[in-house]
Amino acid sequence: MLHHVVEAQQFDRPTLEEVFRLSTEMEQLVRQGGDTRCVGRIMATLFYEPSTRTRFSFEAAMLRLGGQVITTENAGEFSSVAKGETLEDTIRILNGYADVIVVRHYEVGAAQRAAKVSAVPVINAGDGPGQHPTQALLDLYTIQRELGRVDGLQVAMVGDLANGRTVRSLAYLLGKFRDVRIRFVAPPLLRMKPDILEYLQERGVAYSEEELLERVLPEVDVVYQTRIQKERFGDRLADYESCRRLYVINRASLDLLKPSAIIMHPLPRVDEITMDVDDDPRAAYFRQAQNGLYVRMALLALVLGSKQ
Ligand code: CP
Repeated sequence: MLHHVVEAQQFDRPTLEEVFRLSTEMEQLVRQGGDTRCVGRIMATLFYEPSTRTRFSFEAAMLRLGGQVITTENAGEFSSVAKGETLEDTIRILNGYADVIVVRHYEVGAAQRAAKVSAVPVINAGDGPGQHPTQALLDLYTIQRELGRVDGLQVAMVGDLANGRTVRSLAYLLGKFRDVRIRFVAPPLLRMKPDILEYLQERGVAYSEEELLERVLPEVDVVYQTRIQKERFGDRLADYESCRRLYVINRASLDLLKPSAIIMHPLPRVDEITMDVDDDPRAAYFRQAQNGLYVRMALLALVLGSKQ
């Protein structure tokens, strides 16, 4: 049974397939007005970093399943962390109040630390530039739904690969599929970190590191665009300015893309996909965000043992 969800590589193919099967079921459930399988269960969401999609979709997921939510959206300021309480003590206390804890933190490894002291399931909603495993699950679910398969696809990951936690988690998951090729498109400052490249090498996954988006666009099935994460540059503003707007997907990019390809983005976007791309059927990013609800409903049902 699934318990803590802290990193993408913990998922094997059968578990991924179970999550996807259940996610499709959840989509149906939402259309029918929701469900009662989590009645009497409480989810705590503990967010130390801002969020729109992850927090709201987790909270909507719990409510759609009949459960309840306790939450703090700015834990560093509105919880007793502001008085010096540790993450570990906060988690120990929440164990007495909630059946599952969803945590977003600014430090790599924070979710792992939380899981170590928690009897109830801890779900990593993003740990600094570390991982965002539930995002990777909804990304993969989106690829499967949009293109009918993951095996054999070429996926371009574009932009801030050094700071983006979603691309790290997605690379781990793609590494579990057959004949996938990943093309990392980033400037030298923002290249994918060596631990992910080593993981892909160990698993025999084909990948390349490139700088020219125009060369990659006509050849791939999925373009996974990402935001240059200004908040991770600290006072290196000149570095940030030198990287932003290097890779923008616009109407001209659409002419280069295969008719069957899709454009994804974990969102939020700033200016790396222009708004006139949104109406193109290949723009999958809003459908991707919607899938987050179904995948997170599936995850809650699994970790709470509330499958039916
Ligand atoms: N994709 C994502 O994690 O979005 P939020 O930061 O809005 O949760």
